[in-house]
Amino acid sequence: MKGIILAGGLGKRMQPLTRITNKHLLPVYNKPMIYYPLEILVEAGITEIMIVTGGNNAGDFLRLLGNGSEFGLKHINYTYQRGEGGIAEALGLCEHFADKDKVVVMLGDNLIEKSIKQYIDKFQKQDSGARILIKEVSDPERFGVVELKGDKVILIQEKPKSPKSQYAVTGIYMYDSRVFNIIKTLKPSQRGELEITDVNNDYLKNGDLYYDVLDGWWTDCGTFESLLHANNLVSKKERD
Ligand code: G1P
Repeated sequence: MKGIILAGGLGKRMQPLTRITNKHLLPVYNKPMIYYPLEILVEAGITEIMIVTGGNNAGDFLRLLGNGSEFGLKHINYTYQRGEGGIAEALGLCEHFADKDKVVVMLGDNLIEKSIKQYIDKFQKQDSGARILIKEVSDPERFGVVELKGDKVILIQEKPKSPKSQYAVTGIYMYDSRVFNIIKTLKPSQRGELEITDVNNDYLKNGDLYYDVLDGWWTDCGTFESLLHANNLVSKKERD
């Protein structure tokens, strides 16, 4: 299984912090944001990793992370997303890298408390399909939100005004090789992006979407408030 970290975009919601750097290089407590998803993938046993970056500061990722030796890696792969075509478009750039393997995808601004190894192990045992991680939150309207019937996901809505549950879809996704064909069929959403929620709904429609409820805390760093929250969570974890 291969790992992909999505760290593109222009970070428009985070101006002026992102005027001269990429959001995923901003500090979270004592490390640049991108370190956290990278450490999570390495800890879960993933050794082949692709970082998709973009914007004006893509070269800084190479200067910061190099070949990954600091993380115990032999090599890191990098690719470049032009513009802001969305998460699914960024993932689509990794088809050649994935080379028909299963992939675990992490958004570069998603921080979590605990290991994801147990979920990856479950996905490895899955013959096909996708697996998402969901988490109960107080502000689901900021995220992709699942609608549940019993313990079955029946729909995922992207940033719904009236969320059908308190369960957000976290930015950790596991896919079989079919994901790249699904991405090719997507049309841009109202915000002009190829949405990862549309990918997940396609798997759902085919009865091939599975989920786990993520154990431990989860936060994104996509707003000033959530970035501050992430700093506080990490600082507490480091001190405990
Ligand atoms: C993206 C996804 C959303 C998901 C979130 C997790 O939102 O579109 O479904 O819940 O990441 O961080 P975005 O960061 O693009 O607003």
